[in-house]
Amino acid sequence: MTDHSDVPLELVPRRRVAGALAVPGDKSISHRALLLAAVSEGRCTIRNLAPGADVRSTRAVCETLGITVEPRDDGALVVHGRGLSGLDRDPGDRPLELDCGNSGTTARLLLGLLAGRRGRFRLRGDASLSRRPMRRVGEPLVRFGARIAGGDTLPLEIEGAPLTAADVQAPVASAQVKSALVLAALQARGTSRIDLPRPTRDHTERMLRALGAPVRCESPAGGGERIVVDGPVAALAPFTLDVPGDPSSAAFFAALACLLPSSRIVLDNVSLNPTRFGFFDLLERMGAEIERRPADGPDGLEPRGALVAASSRLRAIEVDGDDVTAAIDEIPLLAVVATQARGRTVIRGAGELRVKESDRIRATAELLAAFGAGVRELDDGLEVEGGAVLRGAEVDAVGDHRIAMCAAVLAAIARGPSRLRGAHWVRVSWPGFFDELERLAADG
Ligand code: S3P
Repeated sequence: MTDHSDVPLELVPRRRVAGALAVPGDKSISHRALLLAAVSEGRCTIRNLAPGADVRSTRAVCETLGITVEPRDDGALVVHGRGLSGLDRDPGDRPLELDCGNSGTTARLLLGLLAGRRGRFRLRGDASLSRRPMRRVGEPLVRFGARIAGGDTLPLEIEGAPLTAADVQAPVASAQVKSALVLAALQARGTSRIDLPRPTRDHTERMLRALGAPVRCESPAGGGERIVVDGPVAALAPFTLDVPGDPSSAAFFAALACLLPSSRIVLDNVSLNPTRFGFFDLLERMGAEIERRPADGPDGLEPRGALVAASSRLRAIEVDGDDVTAAIDEIPLLAVVATQARGRTVIRGAGELRVKESDRIRATAELLAAFGAGVRELDDGLEVEGGAVLRGAEVDAVGDHRIAMCAAVLAAIARGPSRLRGAHWVRVSWPGFFDELERLAADG
């Protein structure tokens, strides 16, 4: 992505936000929809695909792999799946270069998917993605017989190999790791068991089960989660999918509505999947007024509905590792919200944030401090003093879309104007973010 960080965006304080909003399609579901459509046995239709650069990276990778992807006039995307074997290549050919851009989900899911295909593939990414750990996927994949050359970071070269089933323990509670291992297990001969220390977002399993793949989810007595896969899968049926709105995007406007006086925002058609809903549960624990209005979706795949968030009086909470997984991408935003709560909020068990698009513990602490909030960085989290009167600040998105949006929320509740360098990073997940902010705060 081109960096225009030398042109800062001017941000002004907002009096209130009000109105209705359809947030963009869920990013996690969109990546999976594209990859599964590519290896399904025919023509798939995907509606409301996430519009950001991350999902465009997955789409571009599918096209580089020889999959035809056609936009339809009504905005839907048609993907012409060619079956798993449609990804096979001549192993004698030069490795096929696949650019994952800024997207960790693209890179990690591809490692699992391509490990079992014929041919050689080379995954690369931008500067941020090239710093992020990949061994957490590569090491367990080797247990299935995968051949992956390189270290802990991209670029990595995969030489596809016949896979055999394995029992593996994912080293971290990561849905990206889990999904990569499930995609490999689908291609492996025999029954595989994939254990995780904590339950994580379950979109991959939901979609695969809906397509008739031999995937089961279990809850082991000692906690965590286990996915059992009876491989190899014969074929994945083509499908039509309507992607629900992204709760991780919805979170920013829900937070703004809670923080600003006389505010009320209706977020339509959001995924209410409990494995993604942690932030809203935590907001409610802080005393926020969040109303859920479940609706029937066009398919039974993902629970969805409207969320209504309104101005609220908030109190500090303690957040631990059990809370963090279902709110992992929203923890920086929770810290932003905590600056306005009564008391000190303590967030622990969030060490994973250090290896996201940026070190989000450090980036959040620096961001909050720049706006004048009291914050202390912990090894695995943050301590945030509530009741802060924030001042306008000049800050940098540090190449991270969610930090850019957190800065926008802080600027909206601060006294005095702010400037944000690198605001364009919001395009990774939500290109229209600032337009929506302008629209919903228009009378502010
Ligand atoms: C994602 C899982 C999470 C999340 C990321 C998307 C996914 O990462 O932070 O934004 O789509 O599976 P981890 O699985 O590494 O926790």
